[in-house]
Amino acid sequence: MPLPRSVFNQSTPQDHDLTLQSGTWPQDMTGELILSAPHPSTFDNPHPFFGDGMTYRLSLESGTHGALEDSFAWRQRMIDSPSARLRALRPDVFTATHMGVQSPFGMSNAANTAPLPWGDRLFTTWDVGRPVEIDPVTLAFLGEVGHRSEWKDFEIFSQPLLPLVMSTAHPVIDPDRDVLWTVNIFWGELFVVRWDGQNPLQMWPISGGLIPQSVHTITQTRDWLIIGDCAFKVEPQVLTGGDRLEPANASGPVYLIRKDALEAVPPGTPVEAKVFEIAPEINHYYAMYDDSDGIQVLFEHTQNADLAMTQGVGDIDALGRPVDPALCGLFGFPMSPDRNTLIEFNPETGKVHERAEQREPSLLWSRQLNAMDWSTEGRSKPTVHHQVHFGWRPEAVTQKMLALYADRIDRSEWPAEETPPLLTTTSLPDLQLMTHHEFALDDMPTSPIFVPRDPGSVPGRSRYAGSDPGGHDGYVVVPVINDKGFRVEVFDASAVGSGPIATLAGSGAGVEVPFVLHSAWMPRVVASQDQPRLKFSDELDRIDQLPDDLAAVAQQVARDLDEGVEMAAPAKN
Ligand SMILES: [Fe+2]
Repeated sequence: MPLPRSVFNQSTPQDHDLTLQSGTWPQDMTGELILSAPHPSTFDNPHPFFGDGMTYRLSLESGTHGALEDSFAWRQRMIDSPSARLRALRPDVFTATHMGVQSPFGMSNAANTAPLPWGDRLFTTWDVGRPVEIDPVTLAFLGEVGHRSEWKDFEIFSQPLLPLVMSTAHPVIDPDRDVLWTVNIFWGELFVVRWDGQNPLQMWPISGGLIPQSVHTITQTRDWLIIGDCAFKVEPQVLTGGDRLEPANASGPVYLIRKDALEAVPPGTPVEAKVFEIAPEINHYYAMYDDSDGIQVLFEHTQNADLAMTQGVGDIDALGRPVDPALCGLFGFPMSPDRNTLIEFNPETGKVHERAEQREPSLLWSRQLNAMDWSTEGRSKPTVHHQVHFGWRPEAVTQKMLALYADRIDRSEWPAEETPPLLTTTSLPDLQLMTHHEFALDDMPTSPIFVPRDPGSVPGRSRYAGSDPGGHDGYVVVPVINDKGFRVEVFDASAVGSGPIATLAGSGAGVEVPFVLHSAWMPRVVASQDQPRLKFSDELDRIDQLPDDLAAVAQQVARDLDEGVEMAAPAKN
């Protein structure tokens, strides 16, 4: 049974009211599941990761947000950003490339990768653009973070109105300072960005902070920021349609930077970092917030996987079969078993100590995304780490990838046949596989969330924390793509291996939800508050560099955004 073929269907997303199909819905589960995704109308891009962003939201309490009493509101909306609005009005001048969507206005900010809650505010992010704030209730665009003059934009082609900003899809919110930390990469140099939610950005260059590839994640302890070079490699010839010539780097630098060292000097002043080298490749990594016992980081290595490579017409898979055109655009799955490590850094001695490793070639393949207790208390002392794995999938590995990575791969570790997707629970800090649930071979479980059982129940704790934080006391919610219909499965976080305790799906014909990226949980959604926010109309100072017809379109978009006019339906180019 293959991967779902509907994953890149260009269907138009719809609102649905999902209903309980089996099991018992936990009455103490509250809040909202938020999902970021590229809009399906753009799945014919060279890389589906680069489509204009949209947001899905599932209310975990029935009868809310317009759903009937026994139904659960599944709502969706395209992010009506300046980029999306300009493209909807003039699709003919936008060109999809392997590095995003370009136009005479500049580079589209798709903001399609990860939802980032900050209290009751909601941002969406991606690696090559500014974070975007949306309204948690209507999912409408509110504003981009930071005027372009506050960022170092990467103007490798003319970008009069839409700047390309190299940042990260995973900024962090600092619970003690109530600020957002992120990065800005400029010609390979690392800058750290601090934003208080209202005022101009503060930015510091990191002395000797070179990023050979890219930064997908920033993580934090109470006192430190940790920033690693990530295995998303972009070679110049790929931008013009050429093939990759080199694999992702097998190792990369990791920088540890003290927060108080940044705050002690004016923005713009170079700040020292402690530099380490970590292997194999990394993409997602998470520090324990409490650093009183040392700086400990869980690395989800992406060893011998290549998210930057996609399969196309004419490619041959790992078993020598032509790839299915329905899967064109699928990113390169791992060619080696999953590996997690728990690394302890000692900035005084410069030593790295691997406290634990998880590697189970017979079982754990193609790890995707995770579910964690994101409350401050949960991040301080995490107890478990839940992950989705797609299984060993030779149809998602191309001969081109195998040729690039040939020297690094041990084919004797490959399972004899494809293996099913899993939801796993791993203990922390010792990284022992505690339990797992097997999905069907034709399921594609997507980004899971952890929902604490009784958030906000303990006075003095954060609103995101339950009474027993860490990730084991509550629920894991997993949206599952399947050609027969989309469904949402709920697991007891302490007993994932017992299978789902409740399943939601659409009634009648199956609901179709195609490819999605990261998810997040919010304890509630309320309408956004008035804030000083950047307006597109404040960034038109180079509009005279555009031909008259495009300048007029930009003026219209600025006017529509200022006056709250709905955007036109997305059009295809
Ligand atoms: Fe990510």
